[in-house]
Amino acid sequence: MKVTICIGSSCHLKGSREVVESLQALVAENKLEEKVDLGGAFCMGNCQNGVSVKVGDEIFSVTPETVKEFFEDKIMSRI
Ligand code: FES
Repeated sequence: MKVTICIGSSCHLKGSREVVESLQALVAENKLEEKVDLGGAFCMGNCQNGVSVKVGDEIFSVTPETVKEFFEDKIMSRI
């Protein structure tokens, strides 16, 4: 499963670095390195909300506070 985190400037200001680090840690904790392919991308044109994270063709807005819930709902449950 491909998960792409926006590292554009607007998302960077909202904490994309923390979101990336949390997702990397959650993937490692759950031993999902083989199943989840984390990557970065520039602006996805969805800067209004939190940090943009794309899972498949869907774009979600995530914040450092909601990243764990996002991981459980949108990544774990789809594997
Ligand atoms: S900077 Fe992330 S969607 Fe625009």
